[in-house]
Amino acid sequence: MTFKRTIIASVIIAATASFAFAGSHGGNPAVKARKAHMQLYAHNLGILGAMAKGETEYSADAASAAANNLVALANMSGMSYWAPGTSNAELGEETRALPAIWEAGSKAGEIAGQLREGAAALAAVAGNGQEALGPALGPVGGACAACHKDYRQSNN
Ligand code: HEC
Repeated sequence: MTFKRTIIASVIIAATASFAFAGSHGGNPAVKARKAHMQLYAHNLGILGAMAKGETEYSADAASAAANNLVALANMSGMSYWAPGTSNAELGEETRALPAIWEAGSKAGEIAGQLREGAAALAAVAGNGQEALGPALGPVGGACAACHKDYRQSNN
């Protein structure tokens, strides 16, 4: 019992310590979290895109895994890291998130919904063969691009 409790306490201390570390080194934790979320989108989409183009060999298991990851990511709540007050107008260069995300009439939430639907449709066919990937990737990539066009500061 005591041993178990010690382990639990150490895990909590370690988790708290790494959180404090993340907070004190290199910027706003909300910005870091959403960028990490976006990187996971890109990673999984990249696996599927490479298979769709024939750059890597198709694998039903790997394709389904990547598509299911997109579904999971698209269904996560980003409420805490898309917090008001964290646009590039407030935080500067650290983030490319435009204030329009939080303004009245923002379509960001709607586009996120399109991404959820696209990812679900993709996951439903990802294991059906390489030819199924291209058409199903269209709406997913379209949602990424639509949001970036209007709500992410361009690099140039
Ligand atoms: C609802 C809006 C929205 C959707 C949908 C969206 N993004 Fe983003 N994305 C953003 C915003 C805003 C940023 C800038 C975040 C920041 O700098 O704080 C961003 C940043 C990124 C970045 C750069 C992350 C970094 O490390 O700076 C990548 C990569 C990315 N998105 C990939 C994707 C992919 C792939 C998809 C689709 C599967 C996607 N995004 C869908 C809004 C969106």
